[in-house]
Amino acid sequence: MNYTNELISIGPRALSYPNPVMLIATFDENKIPDIMAASWYGICCSEPPCVNVSVRKARKTYDNLILNNCFTVLVPSEEMVMEADFTGIYSGHKVDKCKELDLKYTNSEIIDAPVIEGFPILLECKVINKIELGSHTQFIGRILDIKVNKSLIENKKIPTIKDVKPFVYDSGTRAYYSIGKFLGDAYKIGLKSNINT
Ligand SMILES: Cc1cc2nc3c(=O)[nH]c(=O)nc-3n(C[C@H](O)[C@H](O)[C@H](O)COP(=O)(O)O)c2cc1C
Repeated sequence: MNYTNELISIGPRALSYPNPVMLIATFDENKIPDIMAASWYGICCSEPPCVNVSVRKARKTYDNLILNNCFTVLVPSEEMVMEADFTGIYSGHKVDKCKELDLKYTNSEIIDAPVIEGFPILLECKVINKIELGSHTQFIGRILDIKVNKSLIENKKIPTIKDVKPFVYDSGTRAYYSIGKFLGDAYKIGLKSNINT
């Protein structure tokens, strides 16, 4: 598509492209696991490795984060879109989501948060900071470890997006999309031979 220079203001709103779909898993005071779909999420520091997730105070996940100061992040693959959406519709205040989805779990060995079975990748995070932004509280979680499903790392160290098959969320139209084709190598395709880096 050829874009023109004409821009039309649609006002400030929480709109960005694309939004990831991650699942935040926590324990409550009775060690019942809860899982919540989160798109207000991102990686935010390399050293130490950290992620941030913004959560409304009404969520059960918020209460659990305040209680335990830790969480796991499950990366759902395309095949899990129904389960992921379910965790974003129903609240752990009313529904035992692991039970409803028939998901098994164990306790993480390094943090007080559930390790839910059946996901390609899982991050174990400890909350190191909390920022009040308005509607949402942003939790910064330091990544203490990442567990990868063995089937994804047999011949390589780090699985690719093609292996994991995560999907993205279009918050403007409230729809999920898969991730498309390979476009090029990062830090390479934009190189210009006549300019030094
Ligand atoms: C795709 C999607 C993304 C979402 N992202 C967030 C988010 O980043 N932060 C948030 O507070 N709620 C988000 N929600 C809403 C919560 O997932 C939803 O309110 C959920 O029921 C909360 O569960 P809980 O009460 O068990 O924590 C999202 C929902 C969907 C469907």
